[in-house]
Amino acid sequence: MKKRLMICALAMCGTSGAVFGESPAIELNTRNVSFKYTVDQKQALHLESVGSVDGKWVSPLKGPLFTSTPCRLGNSPRFISPLSIVTDDGSSGIELIYQSHELDQSHADYAHLTITMCDQLYPITVELHQQAYVNEDTIVQWMVLRNGLESPIKVPRLDSLYLRGDAQKDIYLEWYGSNEYNTAGRPFREKLNMGTRLLESRDGNRHKAGPIPAFILGFGEQPDETSGACMIAALEWPGSSRFSFEISEPHKKRDLELSAGVNQSQAPVVEPGGSMTTPRAIVSFSQSGIGPASRNLHRFARKHFLPGGDRLRPIDNNSWEGCKMDVNEASIIQMMKDSAGLGIELYVLDDGWFGNGSDARVAAGLGLGDWQFNQERFPNGLDNVMKAAKDLDIEFGIWFEPEMVCRRSKLYREHPEWVMLNPGRNGAEQRGQLVLDVANPEVQEFMFNVVDDVLCAYPAIRYIKWDANSNINNPYSPYLGPDRQGNMLNAYNNGYLSVMKRLVEKHPTVDFMACAAGGGRSNLGAMRYSHTFWPSDATHPAYRLSAQWNFSRFMPPLTITGHVTHAGGEGISPKFRFDVSMMGQLGMEVDTRSSTPEYLSAARTGIAAYKQIRPIVQRGDQYRHAHPSDSTTPSMNFVSQDEKSALLLAYQTSGTKTPIQVNAPISGLDPERIYTVTEINLPEGDEQPRVAQGVKKQQSGAAWMKAGVPLVFSRQYDSAAVLLK
Ligand code: DGJ
Repeated sequence: MKKRLMICALAMCGTSGAVFGESPAIELNTRNVSFKYTVDQKQALHLESVGSVDGKWVSPLKGPLFTSTPCRLGNSPRFISPLSIVTDDGSSGIELIYQSHELDQSHADYAHLTITMCDQLYPITVELHQQAYVNEDTIVQWMVLRNGLESPIKVPRLDSLYLRGDAQKDIYLEWYGSNEYNTAGRPFREKLNMGTRLLESRDGNRHKAGPIPAFILGFGEQPDETSGACMIAALEWPGSSRFSFEISEPHKKRDLELSAGVNQSQAPVVEPGGSMTTPRAIVSFSQSGIGPASRNLHRFARKHFLPGGDRLRPIDNNSWEGCKMDVNEASIIQMMKDSAGLGIELYVLDDGWFGNGSDARVAAGLGLGDWQFNQERFPNGLDNVMKAAKDLDIEFGIWFEPEMVCRRSKLYREHPEWVMLNPGRNGAEQRGQLVLDVANPEVQEFMFNVVDDVLCAYPAIRYIKWDANSNINNPYSPYLGPDRQGNMLNAYNNGYLSVMKRLVEKHPTVDFMACAAGGGRSNLGAMRYSHTFWPSDATHPAYRLSAQWNFSRFMPPLTITGHVTHAGGEGISPKFRFDVSMMGQLGMEVDTRSSTPEYLSAARTGIAAYKQIRPIVQRGDQYRHAHPSDSTTPSMNFVSQDEKSALLLAYQTSGTKTPIQVNAPISGLDPERIYTVTEINLPEGDEQPRVAQGVKKQQSGAAWMKAGVPLVFSRQYDSAAVLLK
């Protein structure tokens, strides 16, 4: 049913001082969460409450939603506001009043609320859109600004998510760094104090430095996995983001103001009759800790968001960590053969296969942009490689970095106008490369074609790794020209996403992996048109244990690639490496030719074990227990949607002189059902069971959940993988 409520029949936009008689109650519900809005006598929109549908729980979120310039609040503080504009007369005035709302309930999976606000002077409207995904208890929110003027307006700020709240009880913030190498994904927890806390990333096209665009707010207490009311929010945006959290104390109260959106470096321009749409913010709530909110997000992403969200991700071996750019037809075919023998399902040829002559990609700084096969390394293109893949019954994937160009390339010489560079300046290179002007539709076409051409020439290719190893260091788009540089960030990132969308739609059986010099695209923006992401180039399993854990707060496990390598040296057993990588999409990055027979034999066992439990991890619900930075025996378990099977993964991260016993917790089982435990991934030479001797292997779900699974660990970097069926 589509209901349109034009409560404000005489919307009075264009007049000031409009008085509004009736206060509409506007309500949007998921199964458990309810957003309520009201409109006051002055037609200002208020968030009345966010709480449970049954009214038993009410979050502190409430308050007026759009503040005006000029500010009529007297001594009250000036709020951040999700919106600021500048009209061509130089005025920053905007006074938004409620115009109408519409609740569209015609969709099977979600209800869509649109609240339209209009300025009292100018024909400028702002729509607040919210979709409530009923079963997944997830809210998706964005804003649209429409310019009805006959002149352009500048929009320095139009945020995706704006909330106000009562901060009488403390508000806690958890956010994730995306800095370098082995700190990517690191969580930071803090209590919000008076003043503004600003989290900004400024890389333009990724978040290599600066926070990942996602955060958790705890209401009244610091939430953990199972306790504390909280909300998780993530931005569907691969570029620079800006989250501000402000605590102020007006009139002896304590208020929270939260605004999250794109971090524009210059103000975008909205043309006459044009509009601007923000990225979507994806939000989930829980009254009992981060775990339930995370599981909501995971379910939402698998069902309504990710491409191929219910498709199992294959087990890959990637050439990068083992070979760097030293690749050729013979070596790749050899490693594919070895990999197939291990049970690997997909071989990925990483960097180094393209460019020719003196521009051949044999080192950084060379060849990016020239996506033709290196004639010396791959004289037959992929003809022989694809034939070998078919014969070996292994799938094949290949690496690209289509947004980038090296000065030493044919592309740079032929299309200097496609390169982002500030006029008259030489430009800063990162990893010997520059960034293409992705705001330019011709460049988007080029990016689409380079990947599409290879996929069309070799239709059996099953996987593309899409990398981005430079920030936008020279922020000038030649295509947009001097007056419209403010549109660059939106045009670049939306351009990247539109190319990804076309590729995913044209090649629905291909998996795309988002990578940006490690974890710079570990965000829901990139994941809209990618199947997996690469969290970091750091692959030491102790770091990976934490990083993958942290990312899983807001990214579904099937998207988190965990590659087994040799990082950290031979002192770390392959079993531990595999048990760590199993918590997401398992893969490897090893040169099989230089790995020991023992390592490869353990890999065979790990891969076979993962195949047994992959649907539980990739399609099931995840229950994280103690965090790796809070405990030396962290653990987590996954439960299949039908609750018939579960996987427990538990780790010992510190040294121990004598064996220690831990009762690894387990959650989410059907209490009535009888589950039998079997230990998996015990490679040859390391067959000592970790499940404690004498444990009754068959017990009810209730009994396992009460007592946990007793495990014995005997050294640092020990681990257990236990299947419950
Ligand atoms: C950076 C990525 O993170 C690596 O995995 C690898 O693909 C290299 N780029 C290739 O240049």
